[in-house]
This record gives sequence, structure tokens and C-alpha cells, in this order.
Amino acid sequence: MKLNKEVKGKIVNKDEFDLKSDNFIRQPLIFVIFGGSGDLAKRKLLLALYRLYYNDRLDCKFEIIGTGSPFMTSKDYQSLVLKAIKEFDTDIYNENTVKKFINNFEHVNLSFENSDDYKNLKNKISEIANNMKVKKPNVIYYLASPPQFSEEIIDNLGSNDMQKVFNSRIVMEKPFGYDLDSAKKLNDKVQKVFNENQIYRIDHYLGKETVQNILFFRFGNSIFEPLWNRSHIDHIQITVAESIGIGTRGSFYEKNGVIRDILQNHIMQLIALVTMEPPVTFTPTEIRDEKVKVFKSFEQMDSDTAKDNTVLGQYDKGSINNKSVKSYRKENSVADDSTIPTFMAGKFQINNWRWSGVPIYVRTGKRLPKKLTEIYIQFKQPPLKLFENKCSDIKANGLIFSLQPEEKTSLNLNMKLPGTGNIPYSVDMTFNYNEEFDTDMLPAYERLLIDCMKGDLTLFARRDGIEAMWKNVEPILKVAENSSKDKFPNYEAGTWGPSESDKLLKTDGRSWRIKDE
Ligand code: BG6
Repeated sequence: MKLNKEVKGKIVNKDEFDLKSDNFIRQPLIFVIFGGSGDLAKRKLLLALYRLYYNDRLDCKFEIIGTGSPFMTSKDYQSLVLKAIKEFDTDIYNENTVKKFINNFEHVNLSFENSDDYKNLKNKISEIANNMKVKKPNVIYYLASPPQFSEEIIDNLGSNDMQKVFNSRIVMEKPFGYDLDSAKKLNDKVQKVFNENQIYRIDHYLGKETVQNILFFRFGNSIFEPLWNRSHIDHIQITVAESIGIGTRGSFYEKNGVIRDILQNHIMQLIALVTMEPPVTFTPTEIRDEKVKVFKSFEQMDSDTAKDNTVLGQYDKGSINNKSVKSYRKENSVADDSTIPTFMAGKFQINNWRWSGVPIYVRTGKRLPKKLTEIYIQFKQPPLKLFENKCSDIKANGLIFSLQPEEKTSLNLNMKLPGTGNIPYSVDMTFNYNEEFDTDMLPAYERLLIDCMKGDLTLFARRDGIEAMWKNVEPILKVAENSSKDKFPNYEAGTWGPSESDKLLKTDGRSWRIKDE
């Protein structure tokens, strides 16, 4: 499948991402990172900011303040930033550019719970604004801090009027809350201080090109939408598989597990994009309205149906790519008898006119055989077996949105096998981003940072969406909470999870598209 060259030229043109065309980002920017030396900042955020800078996408005056550590000088912080960039991004590491970049960093010592420390932060922002010669600077507060401090940080920003005196936005990481009640409480808290349109609840999956492509594919082509419903689609599968374990994030994972880490946000968002109605216009409000409608149409599970329709797992030791790996319970900061799930598979139903009766199977887990994220739409079988089918039924048409490792969309079709027989043969029609575009895809965090600077909320979650997503997963959280310690570990690292995951589909006469060969 080849795209029109003109279109191609336009897409690879960097002006598409031209920050100078937007008022907010033409203005000087002060970016405050709470948790500035934490894991998330080091692994994702600092790199994303550097890459924007390196690629001339951050060419306004800017200053980045790291906070969260009570004792650190700006010089120390600059060294930490330099080290993080060097360690994680060898591709575009350039000594001179990094050195220039880190000159824009300062550190303000701050304990999240100490209100007085925020006065220092406020003074520092004002001082930087004075130097930049702006009266009311644009300030982004990015909460890359442990989630348990979010409320305190918001309270302190509010009690110091830091959302008012500066032209500010707040970015909040996932998981947003711990369950429905805590998410509501956190929403109440943040909405007391910031307006909804100043709040950017981030889910990096929405920043991925391939994820955004789902809506373009569906609503930019007229040939699929008439088929996009229960009359033509047999079922949907979503797999978010990772071969990595939990690494150094034991304490985070022990609190959250796979349901809060992946299902409540990334997978829910993918389901919404695949199943939502076309928005009236391509604007944040309309798009988010449609997503919320989908979340609200999920068939609500109770404790019994949640048990019947989900499978939870935790990895045991095993081998991945011929390397032995330890069990979850032996990871750092993990309890010996932990009942936290690292795998889940589930079957969801959306009770609306379009999707009634179409199962949506999802599975996600750590220490699976490979890193792979895909959405698979399986269409119904043709109504008649017209051809000679030597082996089995003719293969149903399938559409695959492959998000990673390869970024591509494939449509599986049946053709005639050459020869005198009437034998159908299955082929793939594929559009692959890397083959089509000779440019790197804009990484998710960079895209989302640009949108936040531009004030575009389309790819960020709204309050009602967050709460509706929690409502859908809460019954599964309850099942997880009641798991006995003897149930786990129940899958060997390097396999596709517990065997019950296969049974979940087998009972319905189906099977996972990706399975052990
Ligand atoms: C994060 C989770 O949100 O997504 C991690 O906290 C997970 O546990 C990561 O590894 C996966 O993201 P990606 O983009 O690599 O699929």
C-alpha cells in the first residue's frame, strides 16, 4: 500500500509541528517538574524535553526548575540531567547541545508537604520571569512525583495562588487516583485550584502516532465505517505484552499492579478509540464526549461476572530470549507472598447499538515472550463456504493495528491460490510507517508536551472519562484484592500468561491471534 507522495512530503515537513505558530509557546516558558530527579523524570521527561530542544521544537526562551529533593544545588541538578540524557539517549547525545540545554535548569529545594518551600518556588518563578521580562509568565507544573503527594502539591500551589499569578497549566501522570473514590477526591481537589481546561491528565499511549492513527483510519476512509459494527465484526482483541519485568519499580508496582498500571488507562483508551462514534468535530470536547459515552456503555461487572470474565496472573521465574529471569516475588521491594497481578486477561462488552454482542478481549502482562502491542479486529466469516477448503474454514478477514514493535496497519484478505484448484489463500495488505515515511515518528511524550504547551487538550483525559474508566475496572480490582497468596505465581516468565487466558476465548470458540507457535 503506497501513499500519495504529496501527502507524504507534507507529513514529513517539520513545519507541521511548528511551535512558533502558537501564542502560548512563542512566549517564554517556565517548566516546573515536581519529582525532578525521580524515575519518570530521568527515564522519560528530561529526555523528551531535550529531544524537543535538540530538534528545534523548543526554541522559545525557557527555564526548567526541578524540585522535590530537599537538598540539591542547581549545579548538581544540571549534572543529574546531563547524566540522564547521556545514559538514556545515545542517538542524539551531543555534548555541546546538552551543555547549552542544561544551562536552562535550576533546582529549588522543596519538600512536597512544606508550604513555606512553595513560597521559595514562587519567588524563583517570579525572578526568572523578571529576567525574561514577562509579567505573567506561562508556567507548566508537571507532577512527576509519587502519586501520594499529588494532593499536597495541589493544595500548596493553591494556597500560594501559584495557579493564578502565573498563566499556568498542570500535568498529572497516571494512575490518576487509586480507585474511583480516590480519583473523585483528586479531581475535586485539582478542580478547586485549577480550571478543567488547565488540567492535563497524561496517558502517553495517546501520544503515540499509531494510536492517533486509529481515528484517522476509521474516519478518514469511508470504506470501513459501514462495517464497523456488530453486523460485521465478530470480536476485537487487544494485546499489550511486555517482556520486561518490573525492574526497579517494585514499590510502585506493589501498590498498583497491572490493572492500575495498564488496564485502567492505556487499554481503556485503546478500546474507546476503536469503538467510539465519530465526533461531531475533531476538537477536544467532542472527541472526549464520545470517549466518555463508550466508557459509560461498558457492561458493568459485578463480583461474579468479574471473576468469570477475567484472568489474573503473576510471573514465576522462567526464561526470555534464552536468559533466565527471576519470579515477581523475588524482585526488589516485592513481598515474598505478594498477590499483586502482573498479568490480566479479560472480556468486556459494550452495551450500545453498535457493539452489543461483540466481545472485546484484552490481555496485558509483564514477562511475556515479547514486547508487542496490537489491536485486532476480526470480521465475520463469509456466509457461505463457496470454495474448496481442504483444511479448515476460510480465514476470517482481520484488521491489525500494530502499535509496537512495528508500527503498521494490516488488512488480512483471502485471494485465490494459483493453480487449478479453488483454494483460498490468505494475504496481508500492509501499511508500515517506517517504510512509508523517511522520518522518525514523534515520540509520545514529546507530542504530548507540545500539545500541553499549545493548550490542546485533545489527547488528555477529562474528569468524567477518568472516573468512568475507574468504574469499569473496579470490580476487577476487587477480584485482585481477594486473590489468595497460594494462587500465585501462576505463569512462567516467557509464556503468554496462565492457561486460563486461552480458555477465556476457547469457551467462546475463539483464540488469541498471537500465541505460541
Ligand atoms: C507505563 C507503565 O505507563 O507504560 C509501564 O507504567 C509500562 O509499566 C509502560 O512498561 C509501557 O509503555 P510502552 O509505551 O512501552 O508500551
